[in-house]
Amino acid sequence: MANPDSRVTIHMAASLDGFIARKDGRVDWLETADEFVGGDTMDPGFVEAFLEAIDCYVMGSRTYETAIRFEAQGLGWPYGDKPTFVLTGRELPRTRESVQFHSGDLAQLVNGRLRPAFRAIWFVGGGMVSAECLRLGIADEVRYSILPILIGEGIPFFDQLDRDVALHLAEVKAYTSGMVELRYEVRGGR
Ligand SMILES: NC(=O)c1ccc[n+]([C@@H]2O[C@H](COP(=O)([O-])OP(=O)(O)OC[C@H]3O[C@@H](n4cnc5c(N)ncnc54)[C@H](OP(=O)(O)O)[C@@H]3O)[C@@H](O)[C@H]2O)c1
Repeated sequence: MANPDSRVTIHMAASLDGFIARKDGRVDWLETADEFVGGDTMDPGFVEAFLEAIDCYVMGSRTYETAIRFEAQGLGWPYGDKPTFVLTGRELPRTRESVQFHSGDLAQLVNGRLRPAFRAIWFVGGGMVSAECLRLGIADEVRYSILPILIGEGIPFFDQLDRDVALHLAEVKAYTSGMVELRYEVRGGR
């Protein structure tokens, strides 16, 4: 039985020119040093409660490989113990019990397996998987955190999206760090 309250969110941080990583996958530019007077501050208690409300994560294999590389460097695992579904056709190291690998039909995974079991389903990258999610019409909303930097070239937020996707701007927040967070609902979704 599908969960009528389930919601599929795509979230990533990107440069103002729309890139989520450099061409070689580096994300060193995510650390910016701007200050926006009058912006909101990120209250750690709010962030914790916000993350707690996410029920599961979905990501592409390249994003997973970046995450486990960061973890090996001592930077931690950002997805807690929430179930994390990694899309891949390869054999990858499974670093924790909460990680499951999936290959094949993404719509079947989301509509047949994740929606009945989870309410807040978060796609956290990368560009290839985000575009696939929109092409298949399975996303309900897009959260786009724009960082105050231009990097010229890199991996685009939505890689090879082959059609227009109309959006409704639902929320805008600007932070003291200079980051702007946009939340859009996908029009004509489910
Ligand atoms: N700025 C941010 O917020 C942010 C967020 C996330 C990621 N990133 C960065 O983005 C980069 C990765 O993005 P990306 O677009 O290159 O790759 P990606 O979307 O993370 O992963 C793409 C890979 O996922 C697998 N895949 C995709 N759809 C599949 C399906 N339906 N079934 C099975 N496997 C599927 C394929 O790999 P296989 O060869 O394994 O089958 C594909 O090559 C990294 O550098 C990461 O650091 C940045």
